[in-house]
Amino acid sequence: MKEKIVIEGGNKLTGVLNISGAKNSAVGVIPAVVLSSGTCIIKNLPNIKDVIYLKDLLVSIGAKVEVENNSTMVVDSSTIDSYTVDYELAKQMRASYYFIGALLGRFKKAEVPFPGGCDIGVRPIDQHIKGFEALGATVTLEHGIIKAEAKELIGAPIYLDVVSVGATINIMLAAIRAKGITTIENAAKEPYIVDVANFLNAMGANIKGAGTDIIKIKGVEELKGCEHAIIPDFIEAGTYMVAAAATRGDVTLTNVIPTHLEAISAKMKEMGIEIHEYEDSIRIICDKNPRAVNIKTLPYPGFPTDVQQPMSVLLCTAEGTSIVTESIWEGRFKYVDELKRMGAKVKVEDRVAVVEGIGKLGGTSVYATDLRAGAAMVVAGLIAEGETIIGNIKHIDRGYEFLEDKLVSLGAKIKRVKVESD
Ligand code: EPU
Repeated sequence: MKEKIVIEGGNKLTGVLNISGAKNSAVGVIPAVVLSSGTCIIKNLPNIKDVIYLKDLLVSIGAKVEVENNSTMVVDSSTIDSYTVDYELAKQMRASYYFIGALLGRFKKAEVPFPGGCDIGVRPIDQHIKGFEALGATVTLEHGIIKAEAKELIGAPIYLDVVSVGATINIMLAAIRAKGITTIENAAKEPYIVDVANFLNAMGANIKGAGTDIIKIKGVEELKGCEHAIIPDFIEAGTYMVAAAATRGDVTLTNVIPTHLEAISAKMKEMGIEIHEYEDSIRIICDKNPRAVNIKTLPYPGFPTDVQQPMSVLLCTAEGTSIVTESIWEGRFKYVDELKRMGAKVKVEDRVAVVEGIGKLGGTSVYATDLRAGAAMVVAGLIAEGETIIGNIKHIDRGYEFLEDKLVSLGAKIKRVKVESD
């Protein structure tokens, strides 16, 4: 049986909502436990499919894993005895590629099927491979399996040709136990990088500069167990900020780090939306039509590509015409065709979308073309007149914890139903 999300639109979101742990941190931290010879306790994990897949993946290579309260994982990595990752598990998500760096770091050998994940354009991993090779590994692709092997990993300077979250984390993982010093230049600066580096340092690694564009890693011989809490998810928070404003609501999000949300808050303020920032919470109030703005997605601290899709739905309700430029993923406008079926007036040419503010959308059956596209469809459904039925919601379940419960708590009419097919 498949499932769909059904939304009766037109309800303002109001109230207080707690934000979960960050998916894109969790998916880096969980594979990193492979490098430890002890027991790691990871707290504040979001209860999402990607975390469950990664848990299964750890178990499949021999780790002992216990999950407590759906949010804490206790992993004993000392029993891991395989450097080969299962195809069925790897293809479920992008982050399975972190097992290449982690297994290479531990066993000097890794065999990981080419990863799956959202279809948002070409997703090369050449920068990851460039990094592994610089550390002394030989990397080949055979029948869809990435095979990496090294006699010895030796620290090296690595300059990334593109700013890549995945390559930065993967190279850190492979370099932690290499001999000598590795520097990653033009590194990604996303909060996920800092979170993974903090986790590795808590295990005994020596990483400096995470969060800047030069990261220095001094190889260590052994990593122990540790305890770590995942940072709040600024993409989940950004999605609810947008949803609150789109419904002309008044919502306070707790368990957030407001500085991580600055690019989103700044744009929303520019639109005339009230944003109040506190120590670890943020309040969004929108009681009139926002102004149109132009947005260009960029690596952190720029406007995040992962909020571009829901934000474009909000722009459909703005006064005037907005221009949205997607500079990270060329396939991230696929949801626009679905949005148009709800009455949106959006024109896309290459990486630019021109979004006309039209006020209302109309509910209909739509499809979640990827994870954040699914979130965009949810925001569209919340403001649409009538009923919106969203199919292919497996993507949404990969990244949003308790989505319907959270929205219901804010006053939305949203439910999940079983259906025969998407
Ligand atoms: N790129 C290359 N070569 C590489 C790696 C990346 O050319 O070897 C390019 C990509 O094609 C893209 C750009 O560099 O144009 C940035 O890609 P990056 O490597 O930063 O993306 P990623 O690590 O694959 C993560 C998140 C994405 C998020 C991006 C950007 C995970 C599992 N995924 O992807 O999250 O959009 O960083 O912030 O952490 C999502 O959560 O919905 C999502 C897609």
